[in-house]
Amino acid sequence: MKQICALLAVCASVSTSAADPEVQDFGKTKDGTAVQLYTLKNEKGLTAKVMARGATLVELHVPGKNGKSEDVILGWDSVAGYESEDNQYFGCTTGRVCNRIAKGKFSIGGKDYTVATNDGPNHLHGGVERSLDKVVWDAKAYSNDKGQGVRFKYTSPDGEEGYPGNLKCQVVYFLAKNANRISISYKATTDQPTPVNLTNHAYFNLAGAGSDTVLDHVLTLNADKYTPADDTLIPTGKIEPVAGTPLDFTKPKRIGARIEKLTDTSALGYDHNFVLNAKQDDSKPYNHAATLLHKASGRRLRIMTKEPGIQFYSGNFLKGQQGKNGKTYAHRSAVCLETQHYPDSVNQPNFPSIILKPDQEYQTSTLLIFGVSGQK
Ligand code: GAL
Repeated sequence: MKQICALLAVCASVSTSAADPEVQDFGKTKDGTAVQLYTLKNEKGLTAKVMARGATLVELHVPGKNGKSEDVILGWDSVAGYESEDNQYFGCTTGRVCNRIAKGKFSIGGKDYTVATNDGPNHLHGGVERSLDKVVWDAKAYSNDKGQGVRFKYTSPDGEEGYPGNLKCQVVYFLAKNANRISISYKATTDQPTPVNLTNHAYFNLAGAGSDTVLDHVLTLNADKYTPADDTLIPTGKIEPVAGTPLDFTKPKRIGARIEKLTDTSALGYDHNFVLNAKQDDSKPYNHAATLLHKASGRRLRIMTKEPGIQFYSGNFLKGQQGKNGKTYAHRSAVCLETQHYPDSVNQPNFPSIILKPDQEYQTSTLLIFGVSGQK
């Protein structure tokens, strides 16, 4: 007996694996599919919850400078909220092609395709009924010596939402055990050439979801250029400097400082694609894309990626809907910082291509790194 106890003690001391994520019911979709919510936790006080509908980030509890944690992303208390009219892509995986496709038209290899126009004259975020945010993905929770994760998989059949090819997609959320760092990693393969541009659509308010505004947050974007767009947010094809415009976030700036000076994109606020500066050092797996800071709470978010662009959207269409715990999500009370290829890339020959071919694997990932200002 003594020997067994000694052995167990040794095993416990060398085992560094985190426990598997907790699983709980999150309700059923309208068509009766049960959806589960997975809780990832680490030693540094960060808790993230993800669910299978839309491979969605539902909660993100982050400590501030007084040690107090707040849930910093918008969302709903159960799957029903995500299916409601008031949901605006909160926290979901967005695709097959996030952002816009002009007039819902594109062609590949001389063949024309039409996808739904669900944003004025344009296609937005992968379509209407079966875009990647609206389907229930297969989920597998796991843990290892570095932390906890959930792997979501979904195969979008040929022709779904008008896109060609059977697209096998995977999204993995992974929370590091000993650092407040979450990676969101994407993979996809296809059996026909098809456009793919995946992102996560989390809405952040580092003061806590439901706080009045995000205009007091300080933003830095590692972007000297942006893609000017028409008033339906379709890029003109030009790439222009941000210098001298309210889009210059190359140095930290308060989001509210110049928002009223915007004269483009119908002037509702920020809703622009920024061209991320490519680093000289290509050996690094990630480049810095954005840093968001809320001074009062000290919470800071750094976003890293190898994607060429980031859509900075200042929550202009939030309309006071009541989300998690009855909190109100007012106009401009959260920001999305969506790492991605540029909007309408499929129709813009001078933008990096988003066409995935059958012999290729789409692979990209984004890191969300949380910290407290003034602390390491
Ligand atoms: C953003 C987009 C906005 C708006 C929002 C969803 O990604 O840039 O214009 O459509 O999603 O409400």
